[in-house]
Order: sequence, then C-alpha cells, then structure tokens
Amino acid sequence: MQVRNERSTCRPMSAAAIEFEDVKKHYGEKTVVGGLSFHVRAGECFGLLGPNGAGKTTTLRMLLGIAAPDAGTIRLCGEPIPSRARYARMRVGVVPQFDNLDPDFTVRENLLVFGRYFGLSAKQTRELVPSLLEFARLENKADARVGELSGGMKRRLTLARALVNDPDVLIMDEPTTGLDPQARHLIWERLRSLLARGKTILLTTHFMEEAERLCHRVCVIEEGRKIAEGAPRELIASEIGCDVIEIYGPDPVTLRDELAPLAVRTEISGETLFCYVDDPQPVHVKLKQRTDLRYLHRPANLEDVFLRLTGREMQD
Ligand SMILES: Nc1ncnc2c1ncn2[C@@H]1O[C@H](COP(=O)(O)OP(=O)(O)OP(=O)(O)O)[C@@H](O)[C@H]1O
Ligand SMILES: [Mg+2]
Repeated sequence: MQVRNERSTCRPMSAAAIEFEDVKKHYGEKTVVGGLSFHVRAGECFGLLGPNGAGKTTTLRMLLGIAAPDAGTIRLCGEPIPSRARYARMRVGVVPQFDNLDPDFTVRENLLVFGRYFGLSAKQTRELVPSLLEFARLENKADARVGELSGGMKRRLTLARALVNDPDVLIMDEPTTGLDPQARHLIWERLRSLLARGKTILLTTHFMEEAERLCHRVCVIEEGRKIAEGAPRELIASEIGCDVIEIYGPDPVTLRDELAPLAVRTEISGETLFCYVDDPQPVHVKLKQRTDLRYLHRPANLEDVFLRLTGREMQD
C-alpha cells in the first residue's frame, strides 16, 4: 500500500508525542493489557520494560494501529489511534520485534521499497541510502541479498530502514536483540545522536543496561499492568537504595543464613546469593575468610530493580 506523505495536514506534535490512556486488550479470556496508561514527551527516550509475555509488543501494536484496543484512548504524534493511524505513521519509524525484510531483495532494494511506501521517489531514497547504510555500518552490503546477511546485519538494516522517512518518533521493539556487543554499542551511540537531534524514542528491551543508559524514563509492566514508572536513577534509589554484593559458590542457603544479619536484604537466584548492603565492610571481612567463593561488589542497577519488581523466577 502506498500512502502519500500528508505531513502538512497533521496537527502539530503536542508536548506528549505518545499518549496511552487506560488502554485494555483481551485475547479470549486473557487480559493482555489491563488499563495501561503512560505518556512519552517529545524528545524523550522512554523504555517499556517487562518479562516475556508482559504485553509490550501488544502495546506497541495498538499504538501503531495494528491491533485494536478494547478500551482506552491512544494518540500518536497528536493523532487519534486507530482512526488516523496511517497519518501518524508517516511521522514514525518502526522497528518490529521480528525483522520483516524482503529476503529476495538486496539491502538497497529493501530501502528503496520502504521509501516508496512513504511517498519518496526512487531518486530521493537513492540519495539517502549511503547515510542509512553508514548508520547501520552496512556500507559494504548495499548489493547483498538480505537472505545472505547475518542475523545481526538484518537487525541493523531494519534499524536503518526505520529512518527512511526521517521520523519524529521511533518505536522500537527490542532494537538490539541479536546484536553483538560492538554492534549494540554502535546502535546506542546512534540512538543517542537521534535524541540529540530532538527525536522521540519509545523502545522495549530486555537489556537493563540499555534502558539505564538510554532511557530518560522507563515504565515496568507485568501482565499488562504498570508496576513502576520513573527515571532509572530514581527507581534504583527508591527500590534498592544500597549496594549489592553478588556471591557465587556452593551452598548459598547456608551462606545466606550467615550473612543475612549483616545485610539489608538477601536473595538467592540459582547458585548466586545477592546481599543488599548499606555497609559492605562486615560482609567483605566474612568473605575474605572464604577462598571457595567468588564475589562482586557493585552499585545497584536497573536489573536489580527489574528483578525486585518482577521476581527472580521465570514467569511464562
Ligand atoms: N494474536 C494473539 N492472540 C492471542 N494471544 C496473543 C496474541 N498476541 C499476543 N498474545 C498473548 O499476549 C500476551 C502478551 O504478548 P506480547 O507479545 O505482547 O508480550 P511481550 O511483552 O512483547 O513479550 P516478549 O518479551 O516475549 O516479546 C502473551 O501471553 C501472548 O501469548
Ligand atoms: Mg515482545
């Protein structure tokens, strides 16, 4: 389907680039999104976090007008969704959770086809191709067929493709899943430069380091409901508020009984004991006497918050 770029007919972007208000979605008997509300300000990077099956992709699909909500109000770039979704999407770049590139086309052809979708001429898109390939470090792959690319290269192409229409808002579902550490750092740097140019980003991720580095604010959801929202640093301070000592070794249960009086809180996950401590010194003294243990003393991070809120056991 070709949709002409009707940017001039769009209402100007309100202070909130994305408004999601008391949205509900059921599949059969199952409540997948249960009255979820959040707003993303223009120019902000906002992270939607949650365990597998929490409803993140469903939320993004409703935001884009791909899935119909059962109740609630959604606005994207000031446009009501789903009624004006196709107009809103002219100003939006999308990275779906699973790549949907055309495997029979080359990298360049995939970008050209996408440009056409946004009403760009072949000439206009062809002029954009070098900078898009540079964005994704795929300069040497312009004429390679997508089917010949590695998984990470396809992901980088999907990211580049989302920028064809110079979008105001980027909606990215697990943008760096499947990328090696170097590529992930490259994409973080690229996304920061997009934010510096005033773009708005809504992303989902299972990499808490990614959310902590990039997101101004995050919203943690579980079973389609919000369980926390705020700036990563604020959530770390309010939910954890102290240092963490991770201890690996045999018999974490006996060790926990020994160290619990010295800690604010302890948790066991598999063979790791987590000690949350205001004063790490007494725990260090105990651990120095044990040569059979390895341990790491570190500041609390967003992963600690996520696991505190959603539990250390797998959920689905
Ligand atoms: N089309 C559908 N029909 C029925 N159930 C669905 C459909 N799409 C999603 N679900 C269910 O809705 C719930 C939320 O799925 P969703 O894909 O939104 O989760 P997610 O948070 O994106 O998970 P992940 O982190 O694994 O990608 C899951 O229980 C899933 O099985
Ligand atoms: Mg998902």
